Amino acid sequence: TRQAPLLRNIQTKSESRRPPLGFAFDIDGVLMGGLDPLPKARNALRILDGDNPLKVKIPYILLTNGGGYTEQERAQKLSSRLDVQISPSQVIQAHTILKCYVQEYAEKAILCLGGRGDTMRKVAESYGFRKAYTTIDLLAWNPAIWPFIHAEAEFALAKPIDFSITPISAIFVFHDPRNWGVDVQIMCDIIQSGGILGNPYVDTNTQQTNPIQVIFCNPDLLWKSDFPQPRLGQGAFRESFQAVYKKLTGSEYPYVQFGKPTKPTYEYARRVLHNLLNDIYGVGELPNMYMIGDNPESDIAGANGAGWDSVLVHTGVYNPTSGIPPTHLPTHEAPDVEEAVRWAVEREM
Ligand code: G3P
Ligand code: MG
Repeated sequence: TRQAPLLRNIQTKSESRRPPLGFAFDIDGVLMGGLDPLPKARNALRILDGDNPLKVKIPYILLTNGGGYTEQERAQKLSSRLDVQISPSQVIQAHTILKCYVQEYAEKAILCLGGRGDTMRKVAESYGFRKAYTTIDLLAWNPAIWPFIHAEAEFALAKPIDFSITPISAIFVFHDPRNWGVDVQIMCDIIQSGGILGNPYVDTNTQQTNPIQVIFCNPDLLWKSDFPQPRLGQGAFRESFQAVYKKLTGSEYPYVQFGKPTKPTYEYARRVLHNLLNDIYGVGELPNMYMIGDNPESDIAGANGAGWDSVLVHTGVYNPTSGIPPTHLPTHEAPDVEEAVRWAVEREM
């Protein structure tokens, strides 16, 4: 008998089988090589889209230490490059977790580092931060902060803020910085002057009333783009900042670290996937989780720590021909993302 559409939907929702597994995909070095999809990426996502023994859609999220866009923009770019429909709710970038800080910092001035131009301001504002500033805003306010050549054209993107009366409360490194010299200079200035650039430096080693909160969102020392050897990531930027800061003050500056393999990022990912599954199938337990990654230090270490199965692919940072066994042993190794998905699906279905 034909059922009323609403009833059919509800029954379809509760009857439709929850697949026995779910995936978290790293992006760079697994699905993408620079701006282009890696050869087997589309085939792998087709298997999840229904081309599997149970003919069900297998849920997945993208969990990257990359960023620089809103989740909407990133989902759009990935959908068109990978010929698959990816929703913003499936995309977790390095800085997505900063949404948890909006309540505390919505009305406070924060410095957003990383990315090109004022892209990070747009991302921060899309999260709800209402006083999100960039290094371009600071340089446009006082070019003497960095006495070398400036990209004046970028000043057109600047907000006219008087930072002598606008104390910065926190520095969030959303994405990989482009001009490390400027960013390290400005971080050291803000921290040592207690938030007002240009003020006399305070002794940051003594107890400060409102120390500047510093958060890094990606610990990657290296990452795989489309260059033959891995590239320096945000983790290398953090090392350079701390090395300079220690030379200036005698000690490193305390910071919060998010991104793979940190536990908060994997906990955040687990909650996102759980909500995604509940929306599709109704309330239930998270199925067996498989993380597919190219970097033992971030993808495999994080997955193992979260109690997920992990598959290390040979298309990114880890190169098996280098002969050095990974520091963090995966559940399985596979030549590429399609083989990784096939192995996990055959194991669970
Ligand atoms: O920010 C670039 C890089 O760290 C991204 O890495 O491999 O987690 O997508 P991945
Ligand atoms: Mg990667």
